Amino acid sequence: MYKLKEISDKIFYVGVNDRQKSLFENMWPLPYGVSYNSYLIVDEKIVLVDTVDVCYSDIFLKKIADALNGRKLDYLIIDHMEPDHAGSIRLLRQQYPDVQLVGNKYTFGMLEGFHGITRGLYEVKEGDTLNIGRHQLSFYMAPMVHWPEVMVTYDATDKILFSADAFGTYGTLDGGVIDSEMNVEHYWEEMIRYYSNIVGKYGNPVQRLLHKLSAFDIQTICSTHGPVWREHKQKAIEIYDRLSRYEGEDGVVIAYGSMYGNTEQMAEAIASALAENGVRNIVIHDVSKSPASYILKDIFKYKGLIIGSPTYCNSLFPEVESLLSKIEIREVKNRLFGYFGSFSWAGTAVKRLAAFGEKMKWETVGTPVEQKQALKADKYEACRALGEAMAKQLINE
Ligand code: FEO
Repeated sequence: MYKLKEISDKIFYVGVNDRQKSLFENMWPLPYGVSYNSYLIVDEKIVLVDTVDVCYSDIFLKKIADALNGRKLDYLIIDHMEPDHAGSIRLLRQQYPDVQLVGNKYTFGMLEGFHGITRGLYEVKEGDTLNIGRHQLSFYMAPMVHWPEVMVTYDATDKILFSADAFGTYGTLDGGVIDSEMNVEHYWEEMIRYYSNIVGKYGNPVQRLLHKLSAFDIQTICSTHGPVWREHKQKAIEIYDRLSRYEGEDGVVIAYGSMYGNTEQMAEAIASALAENGVRNIVIHDVSKSPASYILKDIFKYKGLIIGSPTYCNSLFPEVESLLSKIEIREVKNRLFGYFGSFSWAGTAVKRLAAFGEKMKWETVGTPVEQKQALKADKYEACRALGEAMAKQLINE
């Protein structure tokens, strides 16, 4: 019944869209959904590359049964064990008890832990090949992109990289599967958000993988999320390269917390000075309203970061503290950092922000501003001076 999209000669897309989940990993908003991609290679042997979230196993298994048309499934390549891709392995095994599960020793530890599966395993190591007829597949380890067991699979015949999460993005596949057959503009921001939320901590492992892949002739990238990259594969690679080097574009994120608008007025003063001094990309996030997912996306995107917080219970505003924790976990590097804050009777926030910037080894730009209670003329000017200093530093760089 299913008309499956053929990615390349006898390689079919058998993934699914998830339009129902509102939070990926139960944390990150999915306004445009997400796809779980899986690919079936029909050759002398039939090989499936990854499965899908267990919530979609029913439709997934029907697609595979259609494509097999009575033939047997020989291998399942497990590039990644996170349940959004590995969730249907146990059900797949129940349906195809003889399928060999291809993975590395780390895969198999997790396979037993998540699914209790210990037999029918086909272990591969770095550079091993699997000849399935016309296609010759080889396997390369990609630890921490984004779990330790991750590997990628390269089809030397059609020059296709099955890249696991690498080059993935949020967003469902709305009819089309291959990038050259759809308008992909809306995926780029979602790719940055996906990267910053999910892969952001692992810049060095991503760089190591990119270095390894540079030796291969890759014409098509089949990620586990989002479009198949062919026409725009270079752009996808460049985005992952830039983000994993923590290289920000020209622009400034102002992320602030504010209970009664006093810290917010400081943010407004800083932003107006940034604009007057030539900064065109200015994003202001009220941390109580913007989901951290989007704030992280912009922090990964832009070079400048200015954080403001009131003092709350002799500490930072809790939502600001939570944001700092998410930034620190991701080890975001090379940001131009400014900070400001307010207090009613005893100031702590600005000291805490100073310590945070030092811990992150970021360059502090301008003079931090701390105001007591309502905004006064001298502090207003100090905020503008902070914005001007940031603008000049950005232009200098
Ligand atoms: Fe899409 Fe790390 O799983």
